[in-house]
Amino acid sequence: MKIYLSLTKTVLVVLTAGLVGGCATRPTLKEAYRNDFLIGVALNEKQFSGEDQRGDPIIKSQFDSISPENALKWASVHPEPGVYDFTNADRYVAFGESNHMAIIGHTLVWNRQTPRWVYRDTNDDFVTREVLLERMRDHIQTVVGRYKGRIKSWDVVNEAVAEDGKLRRSNWEKIIGDDYIEKAFQYAHEADPNAELYYNDFSLENEPKRKGAIELIKKLKAEGIPITAVGLQGHLKMDWPTVEEEDATISDFAKLGVKVVITELDVDVVRATQGNRTADIDANAQRVAGANVYSKGLPDEVQRALAKRYADIFAVYLKHCDVIERVTLWGVTDGNSWLNTPGRVNYPLLFDRNGQPKPAFTAVIQAVKNPVPE
Ligand code: GLA
Repeated sequence: MKIYLSLTKTVLVVLTAGLVGGCATRPTLKEAYRNDFLIGVALNEKQFSGEDQRGDPIIKSQFDSISPENALKWASVHPEPGVYDFTNADRYVAFGESNHMAIIGHTLVWNRQTPRWVYRDTNDDFVTREVLLERMRDHIQTVVGRYKGRIKSWDVVNEAVAEDGKLRRSNWEKIIGDDYIEKAFQYAHEADPNAELYYNDFSLENEPKRKGAIELIKKLKAEGIPITAVGLQGHLKMDWPTVEEEDATISDFAKLGVKVVITELDVDVVRATQGNRTADIDANAQRVAGANVYSKGLPDEVQRALAKRYADIFAVYLKHCDVIERVTLWGVTDGNSWLNTPGRVNYPLLFDRNGQPKPAFTAVIQAVKNPVPE
């Protein structure tokens, strides 16, 4: 009976997902995944100010969580010593509240998009450990404190582990020492004891880096640091990581007793962006020439391959739905993505530049066994 029911539903979804217009109900992402995890999206300034008319209905109908692309980064809210500017951050939070979405804070301590003054004294020398800790405490308590009880989860520390698994030699690490991470979590917890606190990073699917992050999280837990989840950024390629690597990564973190959140999902389809830099002039010329391979649109076969890639990766997330709290796409439409760089048109998301759902969207909906709203 069960088999019959789920088969019927699958057939129903295949039928309805293909139809557009008023005749069929196409389940939205948040409806399809309602019983599994939140589906989030990163918003730019125009989007949370309601000025993106193409994006607005997509954001409101498809997603039940939002992250700020830039609005809460240090450089945005705290550009100068003693100067906080919450104009955009306040709009972002208000947008989430009026649309009843889970609101995410991103990010408190990072080595990028942090102004130079943070680490320096008036002679432009590095400040002492004590001074930097005090600046960090003031920043975290001011920002987290302002949105206490309203922002559900914070990316407390972003990208602290290097590819070899050691702690990245960021200015935070050089000036304060390894325990800057513990301190950041402590300050955030003091500012909002109920907020969920994350460690967020990219490429944790690569073994040396994953091992480093596992050690870090074990250490934080042993010290009683209130870490709720690890954020896997999820800036994926078409052929990296493998589904096995993604599966193993989620299992490895789940074993530590933390939740797993996919915080910045997109899939880079432009292969030329995937290579390493090389001094070889011929290879470089090829790389540059190949960089804009899809400037006139995405060929059908690549569109289909992207849909399959999304289906495969969501199947892994679904397998781990007991530990995955949220999957957030890093942008609304392809036109919004950071992966479009000058001279390089990219197609990493579920909605195309006109705001139309791509085959990848349908594939993500169909990855759910029971996606029909009840
Ligand atoms: C990192 C950061 C994000 C964003 C992306 C790409 O993943 O965490 O905030 O800046 O890089 O731009």
